[in-house]
Amino acid sequence: MVDKINKKIKEINSFNPKSEKDIEEFRIKYLGKKGELTSLFLDFKNLDNDKKKTVGKLLNELKLLAQSKIDDFKKTFSKKDISQALNDITRPGDPIEIGSRHPISIVKNRIIEIFSEIGFSISEGPEIEDDWHNFSALNLPEHHPARDMQDTFFIEKNPDYLLRTHTSSVQIRHMENNKPPIRTISPGRVYRNEAISSRSHCFFHQIEGLSIDKDVSFADLKQTLEYFTSQLFGKSKIRLRPSYFPFTEPSAEVDVYWGLENETDYRMTKGTGWLEIMGCGMVDPNVLKNCNIDPEIYSGFAFGLGIDRIAMLLHQIDDIRLLSENDIRFLDQFKSSF
Ligand code: DAH
Repeated sequence: MVDKINKKIKEINSFNPKSEKDIEEFRIKYLGKKGELTSLFLDFKNLDNDKKKTVGKLLNELKLLAQSKIDDFKKTFSKKDISQALNDITRPGDPIEIGSRHPISIVKNRIIEIFSEIGFSISEGPEIEDDWHNFSALNLPEHHPARDMQDTFFIEKNPDYLLRTHTSSVQIRHMENNKPPIRTISPGRVYRNEAISSRSHCFFHQIEGLSIDKDVSFADLKQTLEYFTSQLFGKSKIRLRPSYFPFTEPSAEVDVYWGLENETDYRMTKGTGWLEIMGCGMVDPNVLKNCNIDPEIYSGFAFGLGIDRIAMLLHQIDDIRLLSENDIRFLDQFKSSF
């Protein structure tokens, strides 16, 4: 029997497969259920006890040898396969993960689309702004207490410059460079020196709206806002609450009637059904004068809304910080959004 086993060891050592199929055949021949090793182990059972020790050891060696041959050859074949596959120019490309738009961009684009349909252009201005465009021209002269409504980041080396606190600054720039009739919206990033909490952040995004022409009235403002809320939220019931902004007179805060259909509505609206979504008003005559537009001839309305807040409302996001952390697991969820 020892001779028989040694013969097999020689056979196995000289094994040289040409393909994976050869390896599989080899495996079945030696290690399969009805293979050579099985029959050798059966013979082994019938041996005299004194021979069992040496033969057993040899048999085990044979088994290990067969198994390691198979493993080694499998490895070399799979390496060959990979390099062959890599050189195959007809191989399909690696799939590329498709990205998604940021929820802020999704909502911003949607709002731009809504206003474009009623003739509003898009205008932009700088994020580093001067005092005139951010405050003074908007009827907020130096030392005006309303400046404190917006905690400002000033540029240390030259405090005449600051990070704009609102996109209302773009109103001024647009009026300085264009003659009425004016219909424009100005999306952009704004900065405020506020504590970071789940509701506020030191930068966020706004869209400013401005419409100037002869005979523009408060009714035009209300109509425009009703159109806007019905397009964006599918809800056109709004109310205008008297408020104060230095650059508009009269001024109002806009609430949209969200409804009280389920628990989330109750939570979001604190049980009232109403949600505050923006500020607005008739452009103050002083602001028109500051931009060389005659308030005796022209009038207009303006409004300003926070994109982050609207994105949170539309997508039920409850922490504003998620919008700037850019965690892929969060952003991925907007793949199918408009
Ligand atoms: N600029 C205001 C803010 O940042 C928002 C705003 C309110 C803009 C009323 C307007 C307006 O144009 O009429 O809080």
